[in-house]
Parts: sequence; C-alpha cells; structure tokens
Amino acid sequence: MQSFGIGLAGLGNVGAGVFKHLTQNRSLLRGRLGCELEVRKVAVRDVSRDRGVPRELLTTNAMELLDDPNVHIVVELMGQKEESLRLMLGAIERKKIVVTGNKALLAEHGKEIFDAAYEHKVPVFFEAAVAGGIPIIKAIREGFVANHIQSIHGIINGTSNYILTRMTEAGMGFAEALAEAQAAGYAEADPSLDVNGGDAAHKAVILASLAYGFWVPMEKVFVEGVEQLTANDICFAEKLHYRIKLLAHIKAHTDGIEVRVHPTLIPKSHVLASVNGVFNAIAVKGDVVGDTLFYGRGAGQDPTSSAVIADIAEAADALVSPRRNLGFMPHGLYGVCKPIDEIVSEFYVRLSVEDRPGTIAQIAGILGELNVGISSILQPESEDEGATVPLVLMIHKASNAQIGAALDRIGKLVCVKRPPRMIRVEHFD
Ligand code: NDP
Ligand code: HSE
Repeated sequence: MQSFGIGLAGLGNVGAGVFKHLTQNRSLLRGRLGCELEVRKVAVRDVSRDRGVPRELLTTNAMELLDDPNVHIVVELMGQKEESLRLMLGAIERKKIVVTGNKALLAEHGKEIFDAAYEHKVPVFFEAAVAGGIPIIKAIREGFVANHIQSIHGIINGTSNYILTRMTEAGMGFAEALAEAQAAGYAEADPSLDVNGGDAAHKAVILASLAYGFWVPMEKVFVEGVEQLTANDICFAEKLHYRIKLLAHIKAHTDGIEVRVHPTLIPKSHVLASVNGVFNAIAVKGDVVGDTLFYGRGAGQDPTSSAVIADIAEAADALVSPRRNLGFMPHGLYGVCKPIDEIVSEFYVRLSVEDRPGTIAQIAGILGELNVGISSILQPESEDEGATVPLVLMIHKASNAQIGAALDRIGKLVCVKRPPRMIRVEHFD
C-alpha cells in the first residue's frame, strides 16, 4: 500500500486536532483512501512542551518540511503571515501539495499563491479557511460548477456569533462572552479580527473569489464588526421582531459584484436568525440549483480538523492522479466590485433625541428632502418631560450614500444628542 508523508506546520488548536484525528481514524482513512497517511515532521515554536507527539518528529524550523523527501503534503496551520507565505510558496516550488486554513493569508495573497500553484501545477487546498467543518469550499468550487452564483449570505465567524448569542440569550456582557469564546478555542490568535469583522471579511473574500473567478481585493470589501453593538440595539431589534447577526453579503449585479460584512438585522423568522453559538450557516443561490443552505460548527478544534483532513485526503488523491482543478479556477466573467455607497438596502437607525415637540418633524424633514422613506418609528415614552429618549427608525430601501448623507445632517441637529447609530437590514428578497 502506498504511504504519503505529511509535514504539519503548527500543532496548536487545529494542528493538534489534525494529528489526533489522523491517528484515531487511521484505519478508516486507510480503508477509504487505499493509502497510508503518515505525519513525518511537525513544526512548532516550542519543542520543549510535551504534546503527545514523538519528540523526533518536532522541529522549530518549518522550512525543514520543504527539503524532507519523505514529506509530500505540507499542512500549514501556523496562522502566520510572512513565514506561512514563505512556507507555502516554497512547498509549491518543490511540487509539494499545500493544505492550509490560513484565511488571512489567502485573502491577502491568494493571487500570488495560485499564480505559483498554476506555474508549478500543484494544488492548494483550503477547506478549513471558511466556516470550520462545513464543506462550503468544495460545494462552491465543485458542487456548483454549473452555476452562476447569484448570492451568498452567511454567518461565517463563530466567535462573533457566539458573542451575539450570549449577549442576546444570557444578557452577558461583550468582554465576558469573548473570553468564553477564546477559552473554547474559537477565536483567532488576535481576537480583534473576530470582533472587528476582519476574519469574516477574509472569508468573504475567499468565497467571493471562488464564486466569481477572480481574487477580490481586500480593500474593496466593506467591513464593520460587532464591537459597537449594544444591549440596546439587541433589545430594540427583538421588539421589532429581528435578530442581529454579523453577516457576509456577496451578490452578483449586472455591473459588478458586492462584498460586504457587517452586523445585519434579519427577520426572526428567517432560518439564519436561529443559527446560534459557534455555528455558522451559509445560504448560496445559484442560477441552476436555486436556494441551498449549509450549517455546522464554524470554529474549534474538531470541526476544523475534519476539514483539514478532507483536504489531506484530496491531496493524497492528487498525488496519484494529477488534477486540472488546482483548488481555485479563475475565469474572466466578472471582475468589478461595487463601492458600498452604491449598495441599496433597508436600515435601522437609533437616535438619542430630546423629547420635545418638533423633534420628529425635523428628522423626518431631512429624510424627506433626501428622498429617504421611513417604514416605522419606535419611541418609548419618557418619564420626565424634556429628557433624552431613544428614537428608532426603520428606513425603506435607500442607497448607503443616501442614508450616510441623511445621518450626517441629522447628527448635527441640536435635538439629536449622540451620533446616530445605523445597522443595515436584510430581508433576502
Ligand atoms: P494556534 O495559535 O493555536 O497554533 C499555531 C501553531 O503554530 C502553534 O503550534 C505554534 O507553535 C505554531 N507556530 C506558530 N508560528 C510558528 C513558526 N514560526 N514556526 C513553527 N511553528 C509555529 O492557532 P490555531 O490552531 O487556532 O489556528 C491555526 C490556523 O488555522 C490559523 O491560520 C487560523 O486562522 C486557522 N483556523 C483556526 C480555526 C480555529 O477554530 N481555531 C478554524 C479555522 C481556521 P507553539 O505551539 O510552539 O506555539
Ligand atoms: N476565529 C474564527 C471564528 C475561527 O471564530 O470563526 C474559524 O475560522
């Protein structure tokens, strides 16, 4: 029986899970794949820690994986930038297949990595980079190869979804909920990427690039995280029969594609509203297949290991019979990203205003002048006359440029006491 050597760069949260499950399910994998998968070298920063891995496999120099003739598949799980890129490009040059979960690296250097992969005819697999254990990469790349992808809406960051769920359901504070997500191994080494939307934006770039056949530049993606969300917003959204989720929105238009990540009010009755905790869900619509939905754990050791090992299995197949599809299939049908100002949506706006006659008229006047329509108003009664009260407006469809201009003027009114807060609303129509 053929045996393939794996070089594991990184034995942290995910790497340790990959090692564990490759070992535990060795005979299942042997039976299914008809070959042996063997970890032959493991790179870590600290070799002195006992990790349950034979000491002779460990090295602190990840580049040793490249020149070891017994390593055929390089699995990059270090989560670094320059070192991870150097390792991946070095592996490709030596015709070793690469498996990675490094979404930040792919979002920022995807074109460079796949240019090298095509030059050297070596596949690069990255199922773990988006939505943990959900096989969404394979679905878009292969399952939907017949489709023009019309839209992708997804909850694709487990940590922020976990935080929002704990804030909504247990009334927990933001910092406490984040600490729980970190302890569970869901958060990035730099958790600000989870809360500022950066991690979801990296994944949105990967999904959009796969769907539309060109590497979407990171700077074209509109990103807002969950760190500004307050218990007040969550509570008002509930009253209006919405839930707030950090969503990635990817859509094709006749004049370009849109890629954005931001907190979004979605109707409580929509299936994505009941995706809680570390779970992710992605709704993909194709012109041939219609509506589809993918659901599962989006972060954590075991689900992510499942995705990495699926890629290792695919790599083993590619070592036996070379493939045309190297993991990313560029094509020239799309290529332009629309700026956020041109994107049209509905909006939730929360203001802090003086509770005096004429306040609503001034605000409605500005919205009317800019052709922005109000669909409903919520203003809880104030107990003392003249006090500041919250005023929540639900806004009909308008462009982001229109609402931005309106809120700019509204924020300057004397009767408006704090900067307006705006969250986009999605009805998925
Ligand atoms: P960790 O920080 O837990 O692990 C990183 C590992 O890489 C550690 O073993 C570390 O060594 C090793 N390492 C880092 N730098 C070097 C280096 N220069 N040379 C050798 N070894 C190095 O990260 P995770 O396992 O959580 O994540 C790994 C990757 O997977 C990241 O790209 C992440 O974004 C991605 N990912 C993570 C998911 C998750 O749920 N955590 C889900 C999906 C993807 P040492 O142990 O000695 O410190
Ligand atoms: N930090 C990421 C998340 C890990 O919480 O979704 C999975 O990519």
